[in-house]
Amino acid sequence: MPRYHLTTFGCQMNAHDSERMRGLLGSLGYGEAPDRDEADLIVFNTCTIRGSADERFTGNLGEARRIKRERPDVVVAVGGCWAQAQKESVFRDYPFVDIAFGPGEVNRLGEMLARERLQGIGAFTFDGRFSGDLPALRERPHQAWVQISVGCNCACAYCIVPAVRGRERSRPAAAILDDVRRQAADGVVEVTLLGQNVNAYGRDLPAAGRPSFAGLLRTVAEVPGIKRVRYTSPHPKDIRADVIAAHRDVPEVCEHIHLPAQSGSSRVLKAMRRTYDRGRYLDLVGRIREAVPGIALTTDLIVGFPGETDADFADTLSLVREVGYDGAYTFVYSPRPGTEAGDHMPDDVPAAVKSDRIAALIEVVHATARQRIARHVGAVVPVLVEGPSRTDSRRMAGRSDHNVTVNFLGPAEPGTVVPVRIDASTSTTLGGTVAEVAVPLGAV
Ligand code: SAH
Ligand code: SF4
Ligand code: F3S
Repeated sequence: MPRYHLTTFGCQMNAHDSERMRGLLGSLGYGEAPDRDEADLIVFNTCTIRGSADERFTGNLGEARRIKRERPDVVVAVGGCWAQAQKESVFRDYPFVDIAFGPGEVNRLGEMLARERLQGIGAFTFDGRFSGDLPALRERPHQAWVQISVGCNCACAYCIVPAVRGRERSRPAAAILDDVRRQAADGVVEVTLLGQNVNAYGRDLPAAGRPSFAGLLRTVAEVPGIKRVRYTSPHPKDIRADVIAAHRDVPEVCEHIHLPAQSGSSRVLKAMRRTYDRGRYLDLVGRIREAVPGIALTTDLIVGFPGETDADFADTLSLVREVGYDGAYTFVYSPRPGTEAGDHMPDDVPAAVKSDRIAALIEVVHATARQRIARHVGAVVPVLVEGPSRTDSRRMAGRSDHNVTVNFLGPAEPGTVVPVRIDASTSTTLGGTVAEVAVPLGAV
C-alpha cells in the first residue's frame, strides 16, 4: 500500500481541507506514514498569511528536497494558500516539487497524482466543487468542521486571503445539512461552521428561498444529536440582529463570538478598509452584551500596520480593556505582496517599535483574559469532554460553552457534556472537578 505524510499549516480552513485530503487519499488506497522518511507521497497544506508562515513552510521543504534526492520516486505535493500565491514560480524555485494545487483544488489532488508523471500541473482553477463535499477523515471524533463557504469578498488592505482563496461562494444549505446529519450519525456533537467571512453566508445564492446565516445556525442546531454550534471567522460588519438573537435564543449556539477587531483606532481601521470604526465596533459589542450578558468575546489584533502611531496603538490597548476580551490572537503586521498595503503603503513602523507594541499588547490581553476567565471560578459549567488532558495525565480535558479549555478530575466519557465545578483559572484555561448535579447545556 502506498503511504502519504501530510503536514498542515495555517487556519481552521486548512485543517479542514487536510481532513478532506486524508479522506481523498484514503479512498485512493493510500495509508498514512508516521514520518516523511517512510512516505511515498509527501504533502504540505500551506499558509501564506504572514511572512513567518512562508518561512516556517519553506524550512520544512528542505527536508522534502533531501528525501527526494535520496529517493527520487517520492512524490512531493504542495497545496493550500502558499501554493496558490506562488503558482508562477513554485516549479522553477523548487524543482523537486511534483504537484502544486490551490485551496480550491483539493478535489483534484487525486487526478493530479495520476497525471503527475506525465507533466507538471500548472492550472489553478476552482472547478466548482467544495472540499466540504469530499469524504473526510476527521481529526476529532465528536467535533467536526463544516465548510459553509469559500473565499472572501472583503478588501482588507493587509490581507492576502481574497487573492488566494478567491471570491466568496456559499455551499448550498442542503449539502451543509446532509454533511451535519451524516456527522451527527457518526457521533459528532459539536460542529463549527467554517468560512473566511462565515456570516456573509448565502448572499451569492439564488434569492428565492436562500437561508440567512442566522437561519442556517438555527437549522444546524436542530439536527438531532448536535449539542453545540460554533462558527469562525465572522466579520463584525455582518453580525446582524438575527445572529445575536440566535446566540440568545438557541441553546445549542454557543455563548462565544470571535469578533476580529484588528485595531482600536478608527484612523487605522479606515486605512485597513475594515468598513467599521471604533464607535460602531463598540456599539456592536454593546448590542451583543445586552442580548447575551455572559457571552465570551475573542478577537484578532494587528500591531504595526503602515502609519500606526503611538496614539493609534494606545487606542488598540484601550479597546482591549474596554471590551474585556476573553482572549485574543495578536499579530505583527507583515506586508504581503499583491495586497493593497503590501504594494502601496510603506511598511514604516520600525521593527523595534513593532516588537515593543506586540509585547505591551500581549500583556494587556493576558491580564484582561485572566480577569474575564476567572469569572467562571465557583460556577458549575457544562463541558464537552474531548479526552485525557495533554498537560496532566490524571485529568480529562474539554471545552466550556464559552470555548475555554477545562482540565478536570472525575469520570467522563469523551463526547458527552458533563457539569464541572470550576475551582481554578489561568488566562486561557479553567480547572475543576465533575459536579454531582447535572446542569442544562448553556445554562451558565
Ligand atoms: N477570515 C478571517 C481570518 C483572516 S486571517 C477573518 O477575517 O477574521 C487571520 C488573522 O490574521 C486576521 O484576522 C488578521 O488579524 C491577521 N492577518 C491577516 N493578514 C495579516 C498580515 N498581513 N499581517 C499580520 N496579520 C495579518
Ligand atoms: Fe482577510 Fe478581511 Fe477577508 Fe478576513 S475579512 S479573510 S481579514 S480580507
Ligand atoms: Fe493561511 Fe490560507 Fe488560512 S493564508 S490563514 S491557510 S486562508
